[in-house]
Amino acid sequence: KLTVGLVGWRGMVGSVLMQRMQEEKDFDLFEAVYFTTSQAGKPGPDGQPLQSATDLDALKKLDVILTCQGGDYTNEVYGPLREAGWKGYWIDAASSLRMADDSIIVLDPVNRDVIDKGLESGVKTFVGGNCTVSLMLMGLGGLFDQQLVEWTTSMTYQAASGAGAQNMRELLNQMGAIRDSVSSELADPSSAILDIDRKVAEAMRSDKFPTDQFGVPLGGSLIPYIDKQLDNRQSKEEWKGSVETNKILGLDNNPIPIDGICVRIGAMRCHSQAFTIKLKKDVPLDEIEEIIEEHNQWSKVIPNDRETTIAELSPTVVTGTLNVPVGRLRKMNMGPEYLSAFSVGDQLLWGAAEPLRRMLHILLH
Ligand code: HSE
Repeated sequence: KLTVGLVGWRGMVGSVLMQRMQEEKDFDLFEAVYFTTSQAGKPGPDGQPLQSATDLDALKKLDVILTCQGGDYTNEVYGPLREAGWKGYWIDAASSLRMADDSIIVLDPVNRDVIDKGLESGVKTFVGGNCTVSLMLMGLGGLFDQQLVEWTTSMTYQAASGAGAQNMRELLNQMGAIRDSVSSELADPSSAILDIDRKVAEAMRSDKFPTDQFGVPLGGSLIPYIDKQLDNRQSKEEWKGSVETNKILGLDNNPIPIDGICVRIGAMRCHSQAFTIKLKKDVPLDEIEEIIEEHNQWSKVIPNDRETTIAELSPTVVTGTLNVPVGRLRKMNMGPEYLSAFSVGDQLLWGAAEPLRRMLHILLH
């Protein structure tokens, strides 16, 4: 049995990963060693004392390190560990090593061929992709696989969880603060809606409104900027959409143009995306639906009628599941090669934890 060191298993992504590994009985397949950045010596989930996640000698003994601890930890430990001669497999949720030449971004239902080739050639570093990217590829993977995409936009509607656990709490506190600001008016059916609206706007603009995490209101509003600002005025999240997609698909030398605007909305943990896809040729819609549906067992075509769409294509329905529904499929006014699509996916599952546990599986078999 391989020995697998688990780091950052207590955080949000780590907890989702642990839960999935328990559900799938992954722990039967390897020897788990639990690490911590703050509580070394205290008992871990297996009753054994937790080991220090910065103890290179302890880490060097492992066959595999699986970390959800975050980019700062990766930056601190990965380099020194490799320099010390460690040749094990590093599986990481953080973005630090994603674009490194000697790493592979893992999303095996989409790029198993790239992963297998990498393993054969001795690649040892495997990183989960950006959540929006992984969810786009889980939904539209068939179209990329069939080389039908000339370019695509991805206009996103990203959940609070992508920003962190504290941000999810703040979103709920914001929603509560909005409601509380007009609770007596709401209780009175004859109160004037424009008075309610004015009071809500005042509450959201006031200094007392909880915005420590997001900096601005998200509940009752939106934030059209995610991650850092780059020199070309793309956000870093928008930049990742293009570079990571092409790296996952192994198209670095001949990249598909992908761009869009990434927006934070008041959903808890499901990222949604609206696509305009320029196809390389006029493919009939029923063929497109078949290609999307058959690419992997989690992508699912939602018929483009109103009733089915609002019932089945929403964060509320998808949250906590591995399903990636794709709907609103139709040819646009621009011409028969222009396809619209809308997808929803849980950013903690396919967007973060699931590709990592599946990569561990590939190593264990
Ligand atoms: N950058 C993503 C977001 C998180 O902010 O929603 C996961 O990659």
